[in-house]
Amino acid sequence: MTALKNDRFLRALLKQPVDVTPVWMMRQAGRYLPEYRASRARAGDFMSLCMNPEMACEVTLQPLERYPLDAAILFSDILTIPDAMGLGLYFEAGEGPRFRKRIETAADIAALSVPDPERDLGYVMEAVRTIRRELNGHVPLIGFSGSPWTLATYMIEGGSSKDFRRSKAMLYDNPEAMHALLSKLADSVTTYLNGQILAGAQAVQIFDTWGGNLSAAAYQTFSLAYMQRIVKGLIREHEGRKVPVILFTKNGGLWLESLAESGADALGLDWTCDIGEARRRVGDKVALQGNMDPTVLYAKPEAIRSEVGRILSSYGHGSGHVFNLGHGITPEVDPAHAGAFIEAVHELSAVYHR
Ligand code: CP3
Repeated sequence: MTALKNDRFLRALLKQPVDVTPVWMMRQAGRYLPEYRASRARAGDFMSLCMNPEMACEVTLQPLERYPLDAAILFSDILTIPDAMGLGLYFEAGEGPRFRKRIETAADIAALSVPDPERDLGYVMEAVRTIRRELNGHVPLIGFSGSPWTLATYMIEGGSSKDFRRSKAMLYDNPEAMHALLSKLADSVTTYLNGQILAGAQAVQIFDTWGGNLSAAAYQTFSLAYMQRIVKGLIREHEGRKVPVILFTKNGGLWLESLAESGADALGLDWTCDIGEARRRVGDKVALQGNMDPTVLYAKPEAIRSEVGRILSSYGHGSGHVFNLGHGITPEVDPAHAGAFIEAVHELSAVYHR
């Protein structure tokens, strides 16, 4: 394997010294880029793009051709696991993800089987191998999955939801069924992420997009406990290097102390907490990733730069910070503003690493 030319992302996740703060953006390959929209039009739709390893590789690399990003993220989706479990994922234009089948009963859950990464999700593994080859050591590649709780909500609701009516009802009416589902998903996520690591992913992130929607007690039992179980089951070293694990619970700012005990190397932060305060709360247990409000990118480059400066100064001196947005970049953002953001992180952070 080619040696990494730029490893500051992996180094920062392990709190090793870096020259400047590394940066990448959640959803960095996506609709704000005209070249992404062109590739998607050529593929036909979003899932065809994901399922074609050459095209998934092409769009993964698009943001890296434009910007000096410090990491690439596999182009795929968190909903590939439920799709491989037979739920029939599809995307209706402007409507977000949908499933042909919904999980309603304990019998539905018992009938689910844990997908085999190479057999049932081979297109993802092949995309990882293709991207690694094409990256040729330029920057590390991030693999990812959804958290069990987040995947369960989509499977039970049949798609996106505002109130999580069906999933919350199942959680409180039939906690045993919910635990059976989460347990199967935890096994699926563990084997899926290990498959990605063996295929070449150099760090992995678990997206717990809807964990922050749970009560404090339910979060511990129905989301964090399963992520902890996954972290324990992951391959933590590959190709002679540590494979860092990042947990991102959106709206999880209240629970950072317990997240820091999870065994993960780093925590993703949304923009609702102050990163300096978060650093004091987690101590030296984990690195932090985040946390600029993605809507700042609607403002002019000067305002973006000043917000980047504020976050850097709040984190303060030393390694252990990967700059990112607090959630995905949105389709309406001007690509030039994303460029100003990335440039500001590199320029303004050097003083914090002397
Ligand atoms: O970050 C990246 O660039 C890698 C690719 C990536 C996508 N989805 C591509 C995508 C990643 C890491 C995801 C994760 C994902 N998918 C999450 C967790 C992260 C988060 O945003 O909280 C979730 C909840 C999903 C499920 C999902 N996929 C939804 C709700 C939607 C529709 C909403 C939307 O943004 O359109 C998708 C579709 C999707 N996934 C798109 C992309 C680029 C847009 C599809 C398109 O091109 O039309």
